Amino acid sequence: MTRVFSGMQPSGAPHLGNYLGAWVNWLALQETADETIYCVVDLHAITSPVEHDPASLRRRTVELATAMLAIGIDPVRSTLFVQSHVTEHAECTWLLNCVTSFGELRKQPQFKEKSEGREFVSVGLFDYPVLQAADILLYHADEVPVGEDQRHHIELARNLGQRFNHRYGEVFTLPKAVHPPAAARVMDLQDPARRMSKSSTAEKGIVYVLDEPKRVEKKIKSAVTDSDPDARILHDRDAKPGVSNLLEILSAVTGRPVADLIAEHDGNGYGGFKTAVAEAVVERLRPIRDRYDELAADPAEVERILADGAARARAIAGPTLERAREAMGLLAPRA
Ligand code: TRP
Repeated sequence: MTRVFSGMQPSGAPHLGNYLGAWVNWLALQETADETIYCVVDLHAITSPVEHDPASLRRRTVELATAMLAIGIDPVRSTLFVQSHVTEHAECTWLLNCVTSFGELRKQPQFKEKSEGREFVSVGLFDYPVLQAADILLYHADEVPVGEDQRHHIELARNLGQRFNHRYGEVFTLPKAVHPPAAARVMDLQDPARRMSKSSTAEKGIVYVLDEPKRVEKKIKSAVTDSDPDARILHDRDAKPGVSNLLEILSAVTGRPVADLIAEHDGNGYGGFKTAVAEAVVERLRPIRDRYDELAADPAEVERILADGAARARAIAGPTLERAREAMGLLAPRA
């Protein structure tokens, strides 16, 4: 049996990179894996070195869950829940903290990157990877679909699970990261050397899943390309990063191979090509926006789905945590 677990932070509006890079793969796994569990990791979002705004965290949490439903996460086949609703995550983090060394967290690349030059670095940020390990280990997840940037976090989860099992007895299943071949690496439209991400500075470089068609069109039409006098449409990430990114986006949204797209568009100039990309992206996002609007009009239904997801998640996480507590010798409270 394969159980899949993944999570996403509610730290910004969902964009094309989230959709094509992560969610398309989550949807595929929903079809192929025995069990899929997807989590809006709000406890991770409050570790951010930038002081967070409580009202927007709440709004973003609902927005992200609603967007996941809108793209096709099926709350019957997948378990969809909000991390903080299942308090086992925080408690399991504490137990795992006690088998984690200071040194192994200090050298985590993402911690170094996120803490560098900051005046205030929370202990929460330092502990971020342990919370992530708890997310994964509580569910005995076998596979964790994530981007390359999460490799070290999954490795740590594996190490902590293994160390715990070694010290206290077999409790946790050791997970492995899976990097889907189908996932697109969507780059920023204004700076195709960097990934499309919420931390990007230029709004113009990010296509949001819920952007109005006109905005999508505008952003794609003003995407940075290059000054090739022949305006060749070829796939070469080094020499033509902007054009390559647009080709990959077009391929991902249409399901057509890049080679076919080159054959069709090379020689027609950048203008026409961008129009084709914009149209395809708009068409792909249209039903998602419609579905999102429907769901957003019925917030009680989304709340119900999340409550059900949390109950299902708790039914797995609860017993795992129980076993971990017992294995460590924590006295069971009288029933
Ligand atoms: N750290 C992950 C990211 O930024 C999000 C995350 C939190 C996650 N918990 C997880 C991903 C558990 C996979 C499994 O992308």
